[in-house]
Amino acid sequence: MIRRVLLCPPTYFEVRDVKNPYMKDGAAIDHAKAQQQWEALRSALKSSGVEVETIDPVKDLEDMVFSANQVFVGYHPRLGNFIVPSEMRHVSRQREVPYYVDWFRRRGYYVMSLNLYGECLEGHGDLLWQPDRSKIWAGYGFRSTERAIGKFSEAMAQLDIPVIPLRLMDEHFYHLDTSLCPLNDDAALIYAGAFSTEAVAKLRRGWKRIHELTREEASQFMGNGVVAGGKYITPRITDNLERILAHENLQPVVVETSEFEKSGGSLFCMKCVLA
Ligand code: ARG
Repeated sequence: MIRRVLLCPPTYFEVRDVKNPYMKDGAAIDHAKAQQQWEALRSALKSSGVEVETIDPVKDLEDMVFSANQVFVGYHPRLGNFIVPSEMRHVSRQREVPYYVDWFRRRGYYVMSLNLYGECLEGHGDLLWQPDRSKIWAGYGFRSTERAIGKFSEAMAQLDIPVIPLRLMDEHFYHLDTSLCPLNDDAALIYAGAFSTEAVAKLRRGWKRIHELTREEASQFMGNGVVAGGKYITPRITDNLERILAHENLQPVVVETSEFEKSGGSLFCMKCVLA
């Protein structure tokens, strides 16, 4: 399903301002451990057959390691590879976006800038492709706003790509990638408590098989894994998750992310899938 990803080394990673319920003011990061965990993710990706590219980390951009958020990456026969730059909710993170846009522009990606007029859109934190690229699932409520998702949907409609908005209800699951993880074209992992009733109904209609994580599992980022080469790279495993993965013919690979969880992120957030 994924062939190439973009990672950002955690050189300047810190917890500074509190942006989500997992972040504690002044939480100490074990930098050696963060580096090891990031390297373990890189090796797990490589051994699953994924090509890994990196972007240079920038001093004082402490969340730049979460490369899923700064742009949305797509491909369209008319445009070729394209990105939609994010409008991050937090000022500290807005500064990351130009570095990422520049990285993609230099590699020939078409930059589709939306006029969001202060509405927020947070890339693949909230925008998830259906694996066959037939549609995009879009979360809103905490980071991306409903209006920004509306603007994004209009832009995608011009490319004939449907966008399905999903309202998020629980701030512990502030990004869609904490409570929805597509496993293949038929099956997804969800934490239903993160969504509005209507959003749960849309998810049930949209997938042949919905597998549910418990709140405990989802808040430990077990729904924030990476599917690659027949594997599910996850920060931890339970019997429930193990059964689900076996059912979908995925082999679990555990890569710990304790340091990044102090910032409210795990494996899915730490990579950007390249077109
Ligand atoms: N500290 C970061 C933030 O609050 C974590 C981002 C996690 N990324 C994600 N795609 N869920 O913005």
